[in-house]
Amino acid sequence: MASRYHEVYQSWKQDPEAFWADAAREIDWFTPWEKVFDPDAGAYGHWFTGATCNTCFNALDRHVAAGRGEQTALIYDSPIGGKQKSFTYSALKDEVSALAAVLQDLGVEKGDRVIIYMPMVPEAVFAMLACARIGAVHSVVFGGFAARELAARIDDAAPKAIVSASCGLEPGRIVSYKPLLDEAIRLSKVKPQSCLVLQREEQTCDLVEGRDHDYEALVGSARAAGRDVPCVPVLATDPLYVLYTSGTTGRPKGVVRDNGGHMVRLKWSMFNEYGVKPGETFWAASDVGWVVGHSYIVYAPLLHGCTTILFEGKPVGTPDAGVFWRVIAEHGVVALFTAPTAFRAIRTADPDAELLAGYDMSRFRTLFLAGERADPDTVKWAERTLGVPVIDHWWQTETGAPISQDPVGLGMLPVKYGSPGLPMPGYDVQVLDDAGHPVETGKLGNVVVKLPLPPGALPTLWNDDERFREAYLSEFPGYYKTADAGILDEDGYLFIMARTDDIINVAGHRLSTGGMEEVVAEHPAVAECAVIGIADALKGQVPCGFVVLHGKAQADMGAVEKELIAMVRDRIGPVAAFKKVVPVKRLPKTRSGKILRATMQKIADHEEWVMPATIDDPVILEEIAEALNKPSS
Ligand code: COA
Ligand code: AMP
Repeated sequence: MASRYHEVYQSWKQDPEAFWADAAREIDWFTPWEKVFDPDAGAYGHWFTGATCNTCFNALDRHVAAGRGEQTALIYDSPIGGKQKSFTYSALKDEVSALAAVLQDLGVEKGDRVIIYMPMVPEAVFAMLACARIGAVHSVVFGGFAARELAARIDDAAPKAIVSASCGLEPGRIVSYKPLLDEAIRLSKVKPQSCLVLQREEQTCDLVEGRDHDYEALVGSARAAGRDVPCVPVLATDPLYVLYTSGTTGRPKGVVRDNGGHMVRLKWSMFNEYGVKPGETFWAASDVGWVVGHSYIVYAPLLHGCTTILFEGKPVGTPDAGVFWRVIAEHGVVALFTAPTAFRAIRTADPDAELLAGYDMSRFRTLFLAGERADPDTVKWAERTLGVPVIDHWWQTETGAPISQDPVGLGMLPVKYGSPGLPMPGYDVQVLDDAGHPVETGKLGNVVVKLPLPPGALPTLWNDDERFREAYLSEFPGYYKTADAGILDEDGYLFIMARTDDIINVAGHRLSTGGMEEVVAEHPAVAECAVIGIADALKGQVPCGFVVLHGKAQADMGAVEKELIAMVRDRIGPVAAFKKVVPVKRLPKTRSGKILRATMQKIADHEEWVMPATIDDPVILEEIAEALNKPSS
C-alpha cells in the first residue's frame, strides 16, 4: 500500500486549523469551541478555545455508553508481585468514580492539584482518571525519585492531596514509599491537606493521624455505595496534568498539558501513527511516571477504546528475558511501545531469543521505540527476532506525542536506519545554526519547530510563563527549541543525534547532569565538579562525575566517592544511576571559565575530538584521559 503520509502532511500544512478541527470530531465535546486556534491566547496561542469537555468522559463514559462496557480496558500484569487483574470499561469507570467521590470528600475541587506518587499499580491509573473526572490537575511523580525531588514537585504544584502507596516492588527488593513521602512532606514548604495511601500486602505502613487515609477503607465504601461522580466540564484549555521533567538545573520544569488539544492529538495518533484499531490491545512498557506512560499507557489507548496493559516488571529478570513475549502472547498485544534500552537488555540476556519459542506472537504487528536514539544494531536485531516492523520515533515530554516517525496507519515509508522518520502533521521541523539561519540539507544543527506547536504540546510551564518563553521560545524567535541537535536529509528524514543542553538519557529516563552537579557540589570535600553523560552499552548513557577535591580530602577519595554516590541516590533517586566518580586535579575550561563538557564526553567515549581553540590549558585534557583510564578506587 502506498503511504498517505505526504498527502496527509500536505493537507495539514495547507490548513492546520481545518486539519485539527477534522481530527477533533473524534472527541465528544460538551460545548463546541469558539476558535480552533486562538493565536492571541497564551505564549504562542491556544487550541480549541472556549470549548468544554472532559477527558475522563472521553476515556471511559462514552465507551460504556456506546456498548464497550464489557470490553477489557485495563490489564494489570505484575510479574514482580505475581499478580494479574483485568478491569472492563464499566469496572474501570466504577473504580474511577468511587475514587473521584473520595477526592471530592477530601475537598479536592476543579483546578486543585493532586500529586500521584505511586508504583505501577492500577490505582495509579484510577487516580489519574479520577482527577480528570473532577477537573483536578494531576501530577504523577515517578517512584524512582527520592524525597527531595518529590518535595520540589510538592512545592511547585502545591497539591491539595497526594495519592500514594505503602511500597513499590523492584526486583529483589521492596521500595518503601511511605518514608519517602513523609520525608518529602517534611522538606516541602507547602503541605498537602491529605494523603490517600494504598496499603500493599507486600509491605504496609503507618498512617499519620489527621492527614493520611487508607485508600481501600475510603474508596471501598464509596465503591460499595455505588457513588458516581459526574464528569465535570472543563475548558479545552484547562490543564489536565502537570508532569515535571528535567531542566538544565536541579529545578524541574512543570510541563502543562491541556485537556482538549491533548485528546485530539492522542486520539488521532492511535490509528494514523500506531496503526491500532479500537478493541485491540496496545502495550506501552513504560511507567506512568513518564510521559510515555501518561500518553500511551493511560490516555491514548483508552480514548481510542483499546485494551491497555499496566506492566509492573522489567524486560529482564522478572523472571527472565522472555517476559515481553509472554505478555504479548498472553494478552494478544498488537503493538508494543518501549525504550531501546529494554531491547538491549533482552538481547544481552538472550542473544538468540531462545525464550521466544512457544509463544504465539501471531497477533503482534509492530514494535515502537522511543525515549533515546534507537541504535540500528538493536533495531535490526528486533526486526530479525520478531519479524515485524520496528519503528523508531522521536518524542519529548513537552510534546506528549511523537514529533516524527514512520506512520504505520498512514502507510509505512521506506526505512532509514538511525532515523526516527519524518515530521508528523503539526510539526514543521527545521534545522538552524546557532545564529538562527537554516543549515544546508544533511548538515547538523539545532532542531526547532515552527510555531505554533500542535494540539497536545505544552502551552506553557506550570506557573512559569517566563521560564517557558526563556527555555523554549527566546533563542530562535518564531520557533520552539527542542534542545536536540540533528540533521534533516534530502528526503525529509530526521536524524536526532544529541541534546544541546546538559540533559542525558539513562535507560530512556531523562535526567539533568546539572541537577547531579548541584548535589555533588554540596559535598564539603568537593572543590569543583562536572557531571557528563558517557556512552553505556545497556543504558545508552550513564552519568559520570569528575571531581576536584580540596587538598586534604584527596587522601580519602575512596570514601568520598562512596558518599557522592550515596548522596545522588538519596537526593535525586536510584533512577539517576550515578555510579561512576573520577577524581581529577582540575577541570578543562575555556579562557572565559566554561567547563569543556562536550570535549570531556568525547574523550570518555573514545570519539574523535579537536582541541577547542578557546581552551585555557590543553594539558588538562590529557589529565582527563589519564584519569578515565585509571581503575576506580
Ligand atoms: N521505584 C523505585 N526505584 C526504582 C523505580 C521505581 N519505580 N524504577 C527504577 N528504580 C531503581 C531501580 O531499582 C534501580 O536501582 P538500583 O540502582 O538499586 O539497581 C535504579 O532505579 C535504576 O533503575 P532502571 O533504570 O530501571 O535500571 P535497572 O538497571 O534496574 O534496569 C533496564 C535496566 C534496561 C532493564 C531498565 O532500565 C528498563 O527496563 N528500561 C526501560 C526503560 C523505560 O521503560 N523507559 C521509559 C521511557 S519509554
Ligand atoms: P523525554 O522528555 O524523557 O521523552 O526525553 C526527550 C529526549 O529524549 C529528546 O529530546 C531526545 O533527546 C531523546 N529522544 C527521545 N526519543 C528519541 C529518539 N527516537 N531518537 C533520539 N532521541 C530521542
